Amino acid sequence: MKIGVLTGGGDCPGLNPAIRGVVLQALHFGWETIGFNDGWKGIVEGLTEPLDIHKVEGLMSKGGSMLGNSRTNPYKEDGGVEKVLKNIKKFELDGLVVLGGDDTLGVANKLYNEHKVNIVGIPKTMDNDLSATDYTFGFDTAVNLAVNALEVLRDTGRSHRRIMVLEVMGRHAGWVALFTAIAGEADWVLLPEDGDVDVGKMCEHLEKVYKRRKCATVVVSEGISVPGQDVGKEKLDQFGHMILKRREVGRQIVEILEKKLGVEARVGVIGHMQRGGPPTIFDRMLGVRTGVKAVDLVKEKKFGTMVALQGTKVVGVPLEDGVGKLNTVTKEWSELASVLFK
Ligand code: F6P
Repeated sequence: MKIGVLTGGGDCPGLNPAIRGVVLQALHFGWETIGFNDGWKGIVEGLTEPLDIHKVEGLMSKGGSMLGNSRTNPYKEDGGVEKVLKNIKKFELDGLVVLGGDDTLGVANKLYNEHKVNIVGIPKTMDNDLSATDYTFGFDTAVNLAVNALEVLRDTGRSHRRIMVLEVMGRHAGWVALFTAIAGEADWVLLPEDGDVDVGKMCEHLEKVYKRRKCATVVVSEGISVPGQDVGKEKLDQFGHMILKRREVGRQIVEILEKKLGVEARVGVIGHMQRGGPPTIFDRMLGVRTGVKAVDLVKEKKFGTMVALQGTKVVGVPLEDGVGKLNTVTKEWSELASVLFK
């Protein structure tokens, strides 16, 4: 048996442990594994590398993906799908393990439904926005890094009697911002799920905190909507998603706070610094377990599925259940946050 593996979409910590899990379980079954470089681009263009035991040694502690990532969508490339199908034949693959978020796994699901490709997915994303799984690897590491950044900002903010705003990634899901704010004891959080920022409520609360402590911290998710701000024409990627990095929502919130409260405020944007670095133990364990499980699913011929963490177990679920509907912050979680901001 021979299987292929690729990592699509944005990279995140945990991908390398997952690749290690795939390769070691394949070796355990006496199978061969080849890696496709740079996500779907690799299988469209036939960019491969053999994955043997040597390649997956020392991978557990490495961020990023040893195979490379891209946001290529074969459905948007000229003849892309045909090339994928041709290369699956050419490289004599019995199964294809695809590691990705909503976009990459959405393509996997389409290829399975339309062409019966022998595909199994592994969910990954720092955004934690996939359905049917309790967590995705990449998220825990991103939150740990963001909490460190928040604590650093708080120190300097306290000394200068400032309000410090931390802008984090997470696209249209506020999980990274919410967990960072709660775990890092921020005074306010702004989430995309809450709709237009309620400036009055935010200022009233921060004024109270500032009077008490002469400093405050706010966590802002990159996907929020700031009233009255024209974001202009956003560039879209191949999956039709807005490229959010130029919106500068953290800076906009700083301007509002300085104007309304008359205190000094500053913003820190950690951007891609929350997407690299050594995976946390949680992400290493989830990565390697999902890698092993994906190969089990190939062995059982359970194609069109993805691995999911449900409670403490890794299980196979239909790809369909994981993609299409974003997993966003629920009311319960927002209510918890509101109790914690005093
Ligand atoms: O989806 C993961 C993510 O890190 C988002 O949080 C962020 O908006 C986006 O990717 C950034 O993408 P890129 O690396 O292409 O700038």
